[in-house]
Amino acid sequence: MNEKLPWWKQSTVYQIYPRSFYDSNGDGIGDLNGITQKLPYLQTLGVDVVWLSPIYQSPNDDNGYDISDYQSIMAEFGTMEDFDRLLKEAHALGLRVVLDLVANHTSDEHPWFVESRRSKDNPYRDYYIWRDAKDRKEPNNWGSCFAGPAWEWDEQTKQYYLHLFSKKQPDLNWDNPTVREEIFSMMRWWLDKGIDGFRMDVISLISKEPGLPDGVPMATGYTSFNVCANGPHVHEYLKQMRREALAPYDTLTVGECSGVTLEEAKRYANADGSELNMVFQFEHTDMDFLDLGHKWGYQKVSLPRLKEILSRWQVGLHGIAWNSLFWQNHDQPRILNRLGDPVHYRERSAKLLAICLHLMEGTPYVYQGEELGMTNYPFQSLDEFRDLDSIRAYEELVPRFWSHEEMMDALRYKSRDNARTPMQWSDEPQAGFTTGTPWIAVHPNYRTVNAKAALADPSSIFYTYQTLIRLRKEWPFLALADYRLLLPDDEALFVYERRLESERLLVLCNFSDKEQPFTLPDGYEHASILIQNTGRENVSQKDRLKPYEAFALHQIV
Ligand code: GLC
Ligand code: CA
Repeated sequence: MNEKLPWWKQSTVYQIYPRSFYDSNGDGIGDLNGITQKLPYLQTLGVDVVWLSPIYQSPNDDNGYDISDYQSIMAEFGTMEDFDRLLKEAHALGLRVVLDLVANHTSDEHPWFVESRRSKDNPYRDYYIWRDAKDRKEPNNWGSCFAGPAWEWDEQTKQYYLHLFSKKQPDLNWDNPTVREEIFSMMRWWLDKGIDGFRMDVISLISKEPGLPDGVPMATGYTSFNVCANGPHVHEYLKQMRREALAPYDTLTVGECSGVTLEEAKRYANADGSELNMVFQFEHTDMDFLDLGHKWGYQKVSLPRLKEILSRWQVGLHGIAWNSLFWQNHDQPRILNRLGDPVHYRERSAKLLAICLHLMEGTPYVYQGEELGMTNYPFQSLDEFRDLDSIRAYEELVPRFWSHEEMMDALRYKSRDNARTPMQWSDEPQAGFTTGTPWIAVHPNYRTVNAKAALADPSSIFYTYQTLIRLRKEWPFLALADYRLLLPDDEALFVYERRLESERLLVLCNFSDKEQPFTLPDGYEHASILIQNTGRENVSQKDRLKPYEAFALHQIV
């Protein structure tokens, strides 16, 4: 690594969804000891940082994103001793550990909310957002991310409380200084334990517009939950968090910023270090949405549009702020089904997606199973889904807007459960994930798509990721070079160039299942092939890219 660059600019992060990673005790649920056992696998892959989705005590309405105690471990996942061991062993292997900070809301079973709902004059009342009814209905037209209104009526005190997610996830009132102090002190407690940073859940939503005004409704009659994005005090609160919680520690911080724009990201992730290191933006994952029920309507991805989005972020943040690079996470369907060809070119298109993303500027994130080319699950019936988001959306949209079959198609394409099926370790029963019955079904393709097979095959997707991860660490160029998109309107080719002083990198990717002719730009006649996905050994001035072929050329001028 280059000493002059912060480590998180030369690192690759691996995201673990603990429930689905590895089950060490046969109860069908992944756990902390399971993660500890698999650390050597992550070391072989070469990642530098592991981000764990929530591991805290939770009634699991939203798989841990509804926290009832920030300072204890979910019983199904293990104990605090298990966590301490995980952290120690990870550090011993040179892996950093980043936790999920879910602080826009808590569980309704958190003691703060249990108190808050008792009476209007309870000392915890103002920890949450309570309002009177308006004309005997909700105080405004805000919608929950998981269908229906963002308000729940509480009979005991005759007021509504706000929940941008499920009604078991009441929003905290960040305008209350005591709430901020509570969150900051909890963060310090984890940092003192030795963790290496936080991924901050929907952090762009914490500051609500005063007066909570109505927003623009969608077809359902409610607004998107993003109505609260980038509120009036969000930057002030994050600066306070930097000063009062993060400053003394050497951390990686990444904000999940739904609804973030490029201009806002320049503030959240500014190089002056006053807020976060980087943000997740969602323009490129949301580009196939149609309005209805926010994400459920979908349209075909347009490559020129994808290139425009990613390139605008590359160029826009260069030298000003820092990008995160990701195709998927626990909320997104598998990227192969979105942008690749999981049937005819599974391996090749998975490698193309890796090459295309990992050679850009930013910190790359790999979501568990992505390095194996895992794909969406072939859901056949509604009872196979576990995610409340999918189940609620079905209730909201069928039959009012869509037929059963239309909704099943949408769920197969978009459901978050596609990302949550168990990690495929081997061709043993249940993909080697558990010796018991898994909490969600294993993808039937595990007999061929699994880690054991990938590790044994030197040409597997796994090793393409391994190479890219090593390049990120060893080659500061990837963090420093500028970025330029070529052929912006081409419907099949994604071509970009990066330059730093006398060094050049040209990345060519064919996002189609047809051969594509191309002409090399000047200056690459004597370039060497840095990485490729078809066994290509040379390139000529006028050449053709095979279906889903990708390669990168390196040249010193
Ligand atoms: C974030 C999480 C998602 C969760 C939601 C509410 O978007 O990534 O999984 O459901 O926030 O916490
Ligand atoms: Ca278990």
